[in-house]
Amino acid sequence: MTAEYKVHGDIALITLNNPPVNGLGLATRQGITAGLEQAQADPAVKAVVLTGAGKAFSGGADIKEFGTPKALAEPNLLSVILAVENCSKPVVAAIHSVAMGGGLELSLGCHYRIAAPGANIALPEVKLGLIPGAGGTQRLPRVLGVEAALNMIVSGEPVKSEMLAQLPGQKLFDKMASSPEKLAEEAIAFAKEVAAKHADGSPLPLVRNLPCKHKDGDAYFQFARNMVKGMAKNFPAPAKCVDAVEAATKQKFDQGMLTEREMFINLMWTPECRALRHLFMAERAASKIPDVPEDTPQRKIEKVAVIGAGTMGGGISMNFLNAGIPVTILEMKQEALDRGVGVMRGNYEAQVKKGKLKQDKLDARMGLLKTTVNYEDIKDADLVIEAVFEEIGVKEAVFKKLDEVMKPGAILASNTSTLDVNKIASFTKRPQDVVGLHFFSPANVMKLLEVVRGEKTAKDVMATVMAVAKKIKKTAVVSGVCDGFIGNRMIEQYGRQGGFLLDEGCTPAQVDRAIEKFGFAMGPFRMGDLAGNDIGWAIRKRRYTEKPDMKYSKTADLLCEKGRFGQKVGKGWYDYVPGKRDAIPNAEVEQMIVEHRKALGITPRKISDEEIVQRLVFSLVNEAAHILEEGIANKASDIDVVYIFGYGFPVHRGGPLKYADEVGLFNVAQAMKRFQKNPLDDAKFWEPAPLIQRLVAEGKNFNG
Ligand code: NAI
Repeated sequence: MTAEYKVHGDIALITLNNPPVNGLGLATRQGITAGLEQAQADPAVKAVVLTGAGKAFSGGADIKEFGTPKALAEPNLLSVILAVENCSKPVVAAIHSVAMGGGLELSLGCHYRIAAPGANIALPEVKLGLIPGAGGTQRLPRVLGVEAALNMIVSGEPVKSEMLAQLPGQKLFDKMASSPEKLAEEAIAFAKEVAAKHADGSPLPLVRNLPCKHKDGDAYFQFARNMVKGMAKNFPAPAKCVDAVEAATKQKFDQGMLTEREMFINLMWTPECRALRHLFMAERAASKIPDVPEDTPQRKIEKVAVIGAGTMGGGISMNFLNAGIPVTILEMKQEALDRGVGVMRGNYEAQVKKGKLKQDKLDARMGLLKTTVNYEDIKDADLVIEAVFEEIGVKEAVFKKLDEVMKPGAILASNTSTLDVNKIASFTKRPQDVVGLHFFSPANVMKLLEVVRGEKTAKDVMATVMAVAKKIKKTAVVSGVCDGFIGNRMIEQYGRQGGFLLDEGCTPAQVDRAIEKFGFAMGPFRMGDLAGNDIGWAIRKRRYTEKPDMKYSKTADLLCEKGRFGQKVGKGWYDYVPGKRDAIPNAEVEQMIVEHRKALGITPRKISDEEIVQRLVFSLVNEAAHILEEGIANKASDIDVVYIFGYGFPVHRGGPLKYADEVGLFNVAQAMKRFQKNPLDDAKFWEPAPLIQRLVAEGKNFNG
């Protein structure tokens, strides 16, 4: 059992002990009910204290049991809470560190609650596309008031215990402990106090019996609904949070509980909830590498060096400075260093101006930064990340030098976005220490990090960089070596489809609008303008010689020939007004597309939004299936993580492969076969990948 029972004098102590956060798995739930029975059967026990060992009171449901029969097995959480309420002796929840989701709901079933300061209190279910399902929407408003409770339930964000304790009239905490260290002692003293108070057999207080009202209920809930609609247009759960809390104010408690349950179960079956739960698990799974066990020893990373102080080098360095890890940046010339450091300082200063960063933090971070033009000064670094020009010759010179000077065991990483990491590793005599760390721009903002595993990269290097990624708050996904790795290799196909759509009859605005309606943050043409159309141009020029069979629309090249590189020059697929990011359609570009079409002898046709979305998204899916099959990605969910965290794929769709699963792979394959018949498209590309064909034949999907 993962809940311990002990008796201290006349107080029984039930301690949840299911690391890391005392998730309420089956064994823990059984432990609680068994403890309650033991306490009630023991005449010497006068009251019960329920608390958590280690780093939490309880973080809620046990994610290890998600989707297994154990998650719902009796006693389920509702039954446990009922058993707590019905305990004949007072039960006091002693809360510290974390009380979230089911953990908070459990405490709300207790007769009394004492909390340590600094505890994070939350009902985060909305973040998984759900509402709290074990009475949270019915009990929290009764102890905090409707508005404070609804704010917590709709946002899912944690609030500190001491803040909640200050809310006027709150009944969430009967008492605050003087410190986390004193909680156990003071909880036992408090339990003795309440035991004495109820020695006369007076009824034990239950949250369910408290009133739940709002003086201007109708107006308030209308207001709340409007607010929520704006905030979460793609998700049904936030609006249901409002409905559930409103039910708490209008229905009797038991009826309200049924209402909550029904909404909870209905939400469980929505694609949005499935998408969010998938991503929750996918993000955690991404850090696990099949053949690198979790106990693989790690190298110590205390000092970092970055080569190149350009766009990427600066952003990469900021990640480490933010995490308190000293960085030395190396450049060829002092001017480049000064410019790079100036940009970094400017970024921090902008954060200070916005009130997001305190001046002393800025000083501390910049204080961890050193600069040099001399390799001697970086030789002791534990990790060096190269972010110089994207030219193999330059990389070769840098890695040869690193091989010469770096201490043994230092990890040598490249931020290359297109070059062969195995080749880069071969420039050194220590290819086992070389790895790709592909950051995304702006590197201090974007969450995604592709960790590129070379053929010879050592396992402890992989384990170390995955841990480092966590430290600098990145979501890391492992990719094998191939052109473009996972993310850019897929986006190339998406971009190609964008080009064909223009040739066949679309305008850039039409394509962007359709995919943005689907939920992408930005369509391919607005994206191109932001990233710089010249980057894609350079890649295509290389492709024309490397892969002469690959078919490309030439429209984007014509655009680049006109110097329309995008936002940085004020014109690209669209026009831009200085200081604004609004994309304004341009007649000249549209005319250019029409003329090119004419030159190709294509009669334009009206293309539906549905076709646009399918061609763009399924092109990602087909390439992803090849990537999976080749073992470039370890699992389907890793690819979804790449697209959600690095490419603005709509969160409520769960990533390209989760979306394909939702559509049904049979349907996806059928659509691909339809696209194969389009003579203006690339028939060879649209042959459904063997993996897709196999999954369809077996009636399976990508994510199991
Ligand atoms: P950048 O041109 O802004 O910066 C490169 C910097 O490296 C310059 O400051 C240059 O002076 C310095 N440098 C060049 N050769 C050097 C040498 N031998 N020793 C020391 N410093 C040297 O380029 P950016 O955009 O920062 O790209 C750097 C790397 O990151 C490239 O490999 C690129 O493919 C990759 N990358 C770029 C992304 C982007 O969006 N810009 C995204 C992901 C990766």
